[in-house]
Amino acid sequence: MRFTNSYKDKIKEYVEKNKLTYKIDTMGCQMNENDSNKYAGILESMGFKKELDEKKANLILFNTCCVRENAENTLFGRLGFLKNRRIREENVYIVVVGCMTQQKHILDKIKISYPFVDVVLGTNAMSIFPKKLYDAILNHKKSIEYIEVGNEIEEEVPIIYDDKYKASVSIIYGCNNFCSYCIVPYVRGRERSRAPEDIINDIKSLAKKGYKEIMLLGQNVNSYGNDFKNKKYTFAMLLKEIEKIDGIEIIRFMSPHPKDFSDDVIEVIKQSKKIARQIHLPLQSGSTHILKEMNRKYTKEQYMKLVDKLKKIPDVSFSTDIIVGFPNESEEDFIETLDVVKKVGFDQIYMFIYSKRTGTRAANIDDKVSASTKVERLERLKKLYEEILPTLNKKMIGKEYNVLVEGKSKNNKELYTGRTSQNKVVIFKADDKAVGKIKKIKIESEHLWYLKGKIID
Ligand code: 5AD
Ligand code: SF4
Repeated sequence: MRFTNSYKDKIKEYVEKNKLTYKIDTMGCQMNENDSNKYAGILESMGFKKELDEKKANLILFNTCCVRENAENTLFGRLGFLKNRRIREENVYIVVVGCMTQQKHILDKIKISYPFVDVVLGTNAMSIFPKKLYDAILNHKKSIEYIEVGNEIEEEVPIIYDDKYKASVSIIYGCNNFCSYCIVPYVRGRERSRAPEDIINDIKSLAKKGYKEIMLLGQNVNSYGNDFKNKKYTFAMLLKEIEKIDGIEIIRFMSPHPKDFSDDVIEVIKQSKKIARQIHLPLQSGSTHILKEMNRKYTKEQYMKLVDKLKKIPDVSFSTDIIVGFPNESEEDFIETLDVVKKVGFDQIYMFIYSKRTGTRAANIDDKVSASTKVERLERLKKLYEEILPTLNKKMIGKEYNVLVEGKSKNNKELYTGRTSQNKVVIFKADDKAVGKIKKIKIESEHLWYLKGKIID
């Protein structure tokens, strides 16, 4: 479905006359970041200007996440805070979109406790956003209603990226896996792959605008193409096509599911000059028993076998997601997780304490593990990770890496920053002319969360 906005011109005059601005607050994953870029694109096409200060913005859009519970409290706190402004001031609008609002109980709570919200939309509803906004602004008509997750793919939605050289491109939406702890399949619907031509065209036009690095996004990127009728187009084929696009120098993707990581994708990575030497491979748990309870469809041994295969790619590094404290995770189960962490040597670990999500299968398990044990396990995992990291970093000292110079370092304004192919942050001396270019950098020292180096070419 091609995105069209027949309300654009009808609303623009009002928006521009009143100099309306917007601020987007994004929670959660990169998929949400990408959706927020599209909401920014739609709003700007309707005349809104970006405002960084929430207190000054006319329209505040919350793009929500429901993967873990704490995000809900954050949203409701923020809405409560905005109530007075919304009611007292003219031309203040509140929009709530994304995964959280795809849950009926959240919608009910907004209706009852936060009825001043103007527009609520779920996860796949950008095409109806312009009309809802038009109604809210020009007809003072609120829209807080439940909308089923659509199956349509919305193409050609205007998009505005925060970055000038790095961009993310969604290739597949939704998830069919139903891991027992995860709410995503319920709020983002079934897998839907974008047509290869649409993806390639988007990336070609990004390359023309000067973008150098592309992050391909999907809940499960290596299921790409499984939903096509003839099933003849695969993720490996898509990667090969993207490799051919002039101007794109670095290709990343996330997340692949370990159960679906096929040999042909590994082969394409090996042959590629552009695909980053970094694989994000969500582990979740190292215990085969817990993995079974999680419905992950691989064992500890199968995961390790895949890692061994991937380690044949020169200079490859790994990052992962781990959940500690899944219901009834025993000390032995947790030790299995620590064992995998030691054996793989992850450069980045996103760690989460299990959060019960209503509607998922795991939510029905009677959990005997105390909250304090879970916190203690998280601390032990963090400690192990910080012990391993310097050893991995030290292996990079003296080596040379191509790095896309992203800009000035936030913490040290004298220096510039970028990432190696392995996704390691490096800081180094440079000048503004280097920004947006790929430079060869020799690593000189390691500082746990970043490396220091110097440009040699
Ligand atoms: N509790 C804790 N972490 C979760 N994740 C997904 N669902 C939950 C949950 N219920 C984590 C997984 C996933 C990442 C995006 O969020 O590790 O890979
Ligand atoms: Fe959730 Fe599992 Fe799908 Fe990832 S693969 S989005 S963890 S159900």
